[in-house]
Amino acid sequence: MSKIGPNDPCPCGSGKKYKRCHQGRDLLRSLQGGEPPPAAPAPGFRAVRPYALRPRREVPAHIVRPDYAVSGRPQGPRSRTLIKTPEQIERLRRACRLARQALEVAKAAVKPGVTTDEIDRVTHEAYIALGGYPSTLNYHGYPKSLCTSVNEVICHGIPDLRPLENGDIVNLDVTIYIDGMHGDLSETVLVGDVDEDSRALVAVTYECMMRGIGAVKPGAMVRDIGRAIQEHAEGKSFSVVKAFVGHGIGEQFHMDPQVPHYFDSSATRELAAGMTFTIEPMINQGSWKHVTWEDNWTAVTVDLKRSAQFEHTILVTERGVEILTLPEGMAQPFQH
Ligand code: MF3
Ligand code: CO
Ligand code: CO
Repeated sequence: MSKIGPNDPCPCGSGKKYKRCHQGRDLLRSLQGGEPPPAAPAPGFRAVRPYALRPRREVPAHIVRPDYAVSGRPQGPRSRTLIKTPEQIERLRRACRLARQALEVAKAAVKPGVTTDEIDRVTHEAYIALGGYPSTLNYHGYPKSLCTSVNEVICHGIPDLRPLENGDIVNLDVTIYIDGMHGDLSETVLVGDVDEDSRALVAVTYECMMRGIGAVKPGAMVRDIGRAIQEHAEGKSFSVVKAFVGHGIGEQFHMDPQVPHYFDSSATRELAAGMTFTIEPMINQGSWKHVTWEDNWTAVTVDLKRSAQFEHTILVTERGVEILTLPEGMAQPFQH
């Protein structure tokens, strides 16, 4: 591990020299007894950089829009009752099934040389063909129809004109709004030949999500989910992102409860049949900390090591948990 020099690129990914960017803050932190300044990236390492965005895509008039589609601001309350009615659950099931179909379209477009903007284009068309609205489009002003988070990007990467490179990993986070319900899922996909450490990261992140889901049953607590995830991640020497959590989902994109992916002793809410929420751990090779690009969305690891994520939307049932965003034909793993 070599130390980063003042004229090296800042590990935050800004493209500025370290001395013109975060060096001052890091020195101050080390003087105050905090963490040492980050190590320089490995030779040949190339940080993901912001590329240009294409203009906003249109949604045809016949597609029913969520309340924020024009203003950018969701209106509904984050919490109402957390227990959905059978009628709401039916509509959410369908939204989740269609979200899965849109994700499969997005995944099929991934290969070296394809821009994340092109993935946005095909996914945008897929939502519309399925009769739904791309939930992320103008959500708090977000400009695209899915999130594409490459390599050290933890989440909320914006599709742009950067071509995917052989060896990248990319998380595709797809959310559809249809029949008044949001269905949300994501997967991290390998682009061409990916190094072994990154493949291990992606595999363990999937296992973390499934272990988190396996902790769900009526009477368990929200914190049991994060405990299961954190134990597995740290057992494999990875770290768990704390700043972004799973969320209740239904008529609103993000509702209560919040679902931390690490053990948070205060998350003592009891799970009950009829609750619906996402479990979407972000697992890092190095530090769990992030910095945000100047676009105010793209969250990258502070040390530029890689991060992976998987997400399912789930329903708590009397018998355990039903995954609403499973691939078609896959058996439910946790109906006890
Ligand atoms: N789909 C993301 C999630 O899992 C949220 C994206 S919100 C956006 O919660 F505004 F960034 F698109
Ligand atoms: Co998502
Ligand atoms: Co989500």
